[in-house]
Amino acid sequence: MLIEAIAQMQQWSEAMRTQGNIIGLVPTMGFLHEGHCALIKTAAQECSVVITTVFVNPLQFGPSEDFARYPRDLERDIQLATQAGATVVFAPTVEHMYPAGYAAMIDPGPIAEKFEGIFRPGHFRGVATVVAKLFNITKPHVAYFGQKDYQQTLVISQLIRDLNFDIRMRVLPTVRQDDGLALSSRNVYLSPQERQQATILYRALQEAEYAIRQGERRRETINTLLRHTIEAGCPEIKIEYAAAATAETLEEPEFFASGSRVVLLLAVRLGTARLIDNSLVEVP
Ligand code: PAF
Repeated sequence: MLIEAIAQMQQWSEAMRTQGNIIGLVPTMGFLHEGHCALIKTAAQECSVVITTVFVNPLQFGPSEDFARYPRDLERDIQLATQAGATVVFAPTVEHMYPAGYAAMIDPGPIAEKFEGIFRPGHFRGVATVVAKLFNITKPHVAYFGQKDYQQTLVISQLIRDLNFDIRMRVLPTVRQDDGLALSSRNVYLSPQERQQATILYRALQEAEYAIRQGERRRETINTLLRHTIEAGCPEIKIEYAAAATAETLEEPEFFASGSRVVLLLAVRLGTARLIDNSLVEVP
């Protein structure tokens, strides 16, 4: 079932809650792929009704970013979401989400300022704002996000905590193609050759993971390894960041402590695509 009106979505969710349902929410910007479908399938197993939102949120795109050309196919999204187990697809218009005079923005604080925040200023304000609105409109008990957008998961978990949303957050692993490329709606921007070259990202993550498991704890050395693997494997890639950080806080200590969790974060440009990927490693 498709719902486009905000008031209708709120009424539907309220009725579902009154009937004792557990509402799962899978927020997306559409052009669904197997990664989104995995979130919807898990939500369908864990909740009695599932809402998938499809909304390309202009607030989270910078002026020179790909808002206008971001891939869209609502009919296909409805079909895929329904097959994966969504009860409702909520697809509001930009005019309804941000009517004339709309002004409120949520600033998620310092966690939003590093890495993505440096290269996409204002991005996480846009994400936090739309996610808060989607929470208020869909009234979920549980919200599902992919680890692929690692920093986003930290921003949203901060949002839930700081603004007392009574919502449990679930973060599910990144879904990859057989050669390791993380699924992303933006992969459609890659030419066949770039699509091949993009596999270097996963290889770089694996090499750095291996080094950490072998005992490497020096942050600069791990960063250099990530960077060199990418540059040697594909000189055409322009690295925005390739960095190891403390998984929970994104702090960047000189050495990672034994028993701590490290996140390896990558953002690169290849052709007209901007790709991000990450992995989590426990320091032995
Ligand atoms: O991860 C995304 O697709 C978006 O950032 C989200 C969470 C749907 C907000 O627009």
